[in-house]
Amino acid sequence: MSENVSSFVAALEKSLADGTFVKLTLGNYKGPETHLQKLLVRPISTKKGNRLYFLYRGATRDTAKNFDPQTGVALVGDALDNGFRSGHLFTTTNDFQLEIGKKGRSRLNSGRPTFKAAATQSHDREKKVQIASDSFYLRALGITDDNGRVRDREQHKWKQINKFVEVLASLVDRSELKDRAQLKIVDMGSGKGYLTFAAYDYFANRRGVKVSMTGVDTKSDLVEMGNGVADAAGFDNLNFVVGSIADHDVGEADILIALHACNTATDDAIYKGIRAKAGLIVVAPCCHQEIRPQIKPPEMLRDILKHGVMLERVAETLTDGLRSLILEREGYSTKLFEFVSTEHTPKNNMLVGTRTSRRIVDDRFTKQIHDIIKAYGIRSQHLMTLLG
Ligand SMILES: C[S@@+](CC[C@H](N)C(=O)[O-])C[C@H]1O[C@@H](n2cnc3c(N)ncnc32)[C@H](O)[C@@H]1O
Repeated sequence: MSENVSSFVAALEKSLADGTFVKLTLGNYKGPETHLQKLLVRPISTKKGNRLYFLYRGATRDTAKNFDPQTGVALVGDALDNGFRSGHLFTTTNDFQLEIGKKGRSRLNSGRPTFKAAATQSHDREKKVQIASDSFYLRALGITDDNGRVRDREQHKWKQINKFVEVLASLVDRSELKDRAQLKIVDMGSGKGYLTFAAYDYFANRRGVKVSMTGVDTKSDLVEMGNGVADAAGFDNLNFVVGSIADHDVGEADILIALHACNTATDDAIYKGIRAKAGLIVVAPCCHQEIRPQIKPPEMLRDILKHGVMLERVAETLTDGLRSLILEREGYSTKLFEFVSTEHTPKNNMLVGTRTSRRIVDDRFTKQIHDIIKAYGIRSQHLMTLLG
């Protein structure tokens, strides 16, 4: 190792010891691994303590790993000896720039710091979660272009993805799953998998949780594409399977997600979540078709609900309201809210059930449910039917 490389590695080691490390980038790779392009390193805080998050960026796939700081420093030294020809170390006291020439000659410059504050390691307590827009999977799914820029037409989806991960992170932090080292997550009706990938990436790669995640969808082409991108991204424990929500055998799960699964598919998903004893059930219902044709308005509301648009709203309110009461009855505390502005998607109501320590059915809710269905002449609701 040349003197400049040693000094660069020593500066990294020192910045980690005195808490001034912000991040490090190695580039201009000329080594034997043809696909490798960059190595990005930043600090993270995990259950195992402070670690270094290594993202090996390739032409078609990224691989992420966490290491303890000592191992991380040694690996950076190895990487500079084995193909990376440039390094940029950011600390709060100095920036260091290393260039290694063809014949091993090198140059090390230091300058004023770009960043004034050390990177926060407590990412899991951040209120605002920002997905890294240069992630490979976002490029592969068409959200970003080759330069990691969010495509104009995907801006709404991008906002939705970020908001979803932010909401999910905060829900986990307020639930029994908060400090879990492992999470089993099932995403029902995963579609193209934007939210599935983002959730996996956040928990597995940013928080360092051992995540096992499955996306379920009836469309085999989407499942095939999802598996291809997961392989290419090196997301080893993310799988997509072809199947219907009603028939998928979930087993036990920690988080059950179903975003924009049509009509009663949302009920199938909630039912699976309850049976899987999921700590969190997160659904964004859409296409509320089951209850509307059954409604016989109470006399007092007859002349209001003769207007289709009003009936539509009441049908939606009753459907999600009943789902929420059923979850409460089964031992979940619930929240119903708009998770992203209607400007980004009209299908934006989110119903969340968080498992409580109550393990018995609460019949207070049974009475409310019966009063409501009686008042509106509702004969059947799919989730109620599934739960008998
Ligand atoms: C509107 S997309 C939503 C995709 C994704 N969850 C999101 O919010 O971006 C709905 C997806 O659910 C799938 N789907 C609908 N009903 C389903 C069912 N009963 N079982 C499995 N997948 C279903 C569809 O094939 C479609 O890909």
